[in-house]
Amino acid sequence: MIISPASLRRTAASLAFVVCAAGASAAPAPTPPQMGFNNWNSTHCRDEFNEQMIRGIADKFISLGLRDAGYRYVNIDDCWANWQRGKDGKLQANPKRFPSGIKALAQYIHQHGLKFGLYSSAGTSTCEPLQENRGFPGGLGHEKADAATFASWDVDYLKYDNCNNQKVPALKRYTAMAEALRSTGRPIFFSVCEWGENKPWLWAGKPPVDAGSWRTTGDISDSYASMLKNFKQNVVLDRYATPGHYNDPDMLEVGNGGMTDVEYRSHFSLWSIMAAPLLIGTDLRTIKPDALEILLNKDVIAVDQDPLGVQGKQVRDADGIHVIVKPLKDGSRAVAVFNEGDAPHDVAVSATEIGLKAGGNYTVRDLWAHTQANGDGTLKMSLQPHATAMYRISNH
Ligand code: GLA
Repeated sequence: MIISPASLRRTAASLAFVVCAAGASAAPAPTPPQMGFNNWNSTHCRDEFNEQMIRGIADKFISLGLRDAGYRYVNIDDCWANWQRGKDGKLQANPKRFPSGIKALAQYIHQHGLKFGLYSSAGTSTCEPLQENRGFPGGLGHEKADAATFASWDVDYLKYDNCNNQKVPALKRYTAMAEALRSTGRPIFFSVCEWGENKPWLWAGKPPVDAGSWRTTGDISDSYASMLKNFKQNVVLDRYATPGHYNDPDMLEVGNGGMTDVEYRSHFSLWSIMAAPLLIGTDLRTIKPDALEILLNKDVIAVDQDPLGVQGKQVRDADGIHVIVKPLKDGSRAVAVFNEGDAPHDVAVSATEIGLKAGGNYTVRDLWAHTQANGDGTLKMSLQPHATAMYRISNH
């Protein structure tokens, strides 16, 4: 091979570039899926949804160890607003529910080392049924003013819903709010909530919307059937999630009483292996120890929050058994094996099905039993109906 002086110069230049790049500070790690709380699944618009409740939730984040486990956002949902905008056109808090105002609530939450999230809709009013022929005001056509109000209240997160959208194209509506939020200069996490109607996985995670997450499904309810439906719709969308931009199969129901603990463990495992947002949907002031233990499973949370930011891929969906594999930053793999059916099932998973070399030597950690063993990467287990087993497999 003849090496010309020109090609030598090019090589030297690219080497210099490599050295430079290595010397420069590393790019910031992508944001992992958001973790926190939202009141909707536990209260809907009932009167108990008020500032006293939300302050109590912030207190519980600390006393129950949720902040230490990574939960950060305390978010409030529909029905926080007053029926009308003020005379100045600005949104205002419902004076019965939030007499101290939204800014004071945000301050209380920030004093706990937490972040505060609010809700609106990319429509003329929000989703709650109209009362006295009036809905809660939505953001459509008011994006700039509303974003400025949110920033002035020290809001860190906006869930932006899809009701009463007047058939204005979704991309237009969500772009308008995304741009308005950015133009405030305050970092506000943008959570798109249009229920998967306009295939948001194709556009919501990219500029100009650039949302941190987008709902892929209709509303979850506190039943195994609902959880299963949302799981199935979301699990096949893995290739559209990118680090910092995640599919959102809706908030958690863990602790609300409509599923068994086995089912709630599946719910939490499946959401984590899918790198879904982990937004607690139960009233933490009255949560039972079993549900809290699920939400505090640090081994499972670490899978959801893994810095690689990749959604797990379903490698098997047969006979009611789902196997999902998620690559992790340290080179290990998380595996969830879920028995959808109503009968117990013995399951075997080979190393190659997980994407591992056959005959290797691995450490296998059971993320619910919190036990560890050496193995060749094959998994064998007996699963109860609706149960999920979850593992972390590493070769070091
Ligand atoms: C929609 C959303 C829910 C919730 C309600 C509030 O249904 O999908 O998550 O925010 O609106 O009205």
